[in-house]
Amino acid sequence: MSDQPFVVAVDGPAGTGKSSATKRIADLLGLIHVDTGALYRGVAFQCFEVGFTLDFDESDHDAITKIAQKAQFEFKRIKSKNPSNRLFLNGKDVTSMIRTPDMSMMASRVSAIPGVRAALKGLQRNLGMSAPSILEGRDIGTVIFPDANIKFFLTASIDERAKRRLSELEAQGGDSPSFEELREQILKRDEGDSTRAIAPLKKASDAIEIDTTASTLDQVVIEMAKLIRAKMNKAG
Ligand code: DC
Repeated sequence: MSDQPFVVAVDGPAGTGKSSATKRIADLLGLIHVDTGALYRGVAFQCFEVGFTLDFDESDHDAITKIAQKAQFEFKRIKSKNPSNRLFLNGKDVTSMIRTPDMSMMASRVSAIPGVRAALKGLQRNLGMSAPSILEGRDIGTVIFPDANIKFFLTASIDERAKRRLSELEAQGGDSPSFEELREQILKRDEGDSTRAIAPLKKASDAIEIDTTASTLDQVVIEMAKLIRAKMNKAG
């Protein structure tokens, strides 16, 4: 623990503002931002590329695990007027391609395969161990960094989460599902993510829970940054 750089763990279901808040906090406090969901989305992308569909079954688990084991991931920080984190998978920039509703569903499904989780664990640990960082996902505080310096668990009402996802998809352009369809998809994903046998989405007992339903992004960032700064000062 003493050799470990400062680690912030942020978990919670989709649409709670995790990504937006953690990106802003990373910039504010000089932490590396690790979006672990993007790794599962990358595996999902690769599965679609080789012809798997959403209704794959258990007989496909070994082949999908191999895809995860072979995948070469690299996060690159692009410095420009609007700095962004890009994800390269096997040398290809997949950042925007992994954000569709089908990718979300496929990511959720492949993330329940134990071999896939095992294949991505080392990378997540290495990223967090490389420098002071903030990792966001579903099992950061429970499995990946159970000894994180500070842990958060974000929640929000289902209607608010669906509303946020819809605005995100609309901002990306292209076809978006309706509010009701999106709400159903999120509920289905929550159900899969929180009932899977391995590393299910759940609040670590020592995580600070923040309900973001009625808060602006600014308010969430200010509250989290204040708590993180206090811990950083204590940790020296
Ligand atoms: O955070 P996200 O919506 O990009 O994540 C996509 C899926 O990946 C999510 O439905 C479950 C899975 N996931 C996971 O199992 N563990 C993580 N640490 C992050 C994401």
